[in-house]
Amino acid sequence: MKQVTVRAFCGMKNNFTYGEITSVGMNQLLGYIKEDFPDLKGNFLDIGSGYARLVTFMAEQTKMNCVGVEINPEMHNNALKTIWTNAHSRMKLLCDDIVNLPGIVESADVIYMNCVTWDPKLVSRIFQQANGIMYHNCVRAIRLDDGKLWDYPGEPAPLNCSWGIEDQKYYKLNTKTVR
Ligand SMILES: C[S@@+](CC[C@H](N)C(=O)[O-])C[C@H]1O[C@@H](n2cnc3c(N)ncnc32)[C@H](O)[C@@H]1O
Repeated sequence: MKQVTVRAFCGMKNNFTYGEITSVGMNQLLGYIKEDFPDLKGNFLDIGSGYARLVTFMAEQTKMNCVGVEINPEMHNNALKTIWTNAHSRMKLLCDDIVNLPGIVESADVIYMNCVTWDPKLVSRIFQQANGIMYHNCVRAIRLDDGKLWDYPGEPAPLNCSWGIEDQKYYKLNTKTVR
């Protein structure tokens, strides 16, 4: 297996740009997850979980332990106030910068991140810490240590999100294949 370190480039500065995965997208993501985790157990992580709708959906629809990390306190507090679910015992919402929580990234079996507007250094760091399967929209942002563009080993996994009617370009990456 090729030993590489992946690094992101071509992103924007980290920001709070908001967009949500829609209910259609949540069901698409659930379908993808079922292919690798038919028993729907394990650890799910939404990095940049916003109002935590996806974390709630996953906690309700699966048996996974679901964590959302959101850097913006207003969104985090809004989520805490407005989410009503019977799946609280499998949900954890944290208000923090994901850079402060490497252990949570490492232990996630499935990571979702709508990260297309993020600082490429941050995305790179997450790619390198992760051990699970990652759904992300930052594929243009991958370069190898030697500077060459990566022949990307991930696969398209389109997801519907609030930024458009059409499904957005997302990719599934099994991070174990790049270790
Ligand atoms: C496009 S929104 C996605 C919301 C949610 N995941 C969804 O799809 O419904 C991206 C979120 O990432 C958050 N974010 C940006 N940088 C972050 C960081 N370093 N750590 C945690 N959250 C971050 C933003 O505040 C924003 O709420």
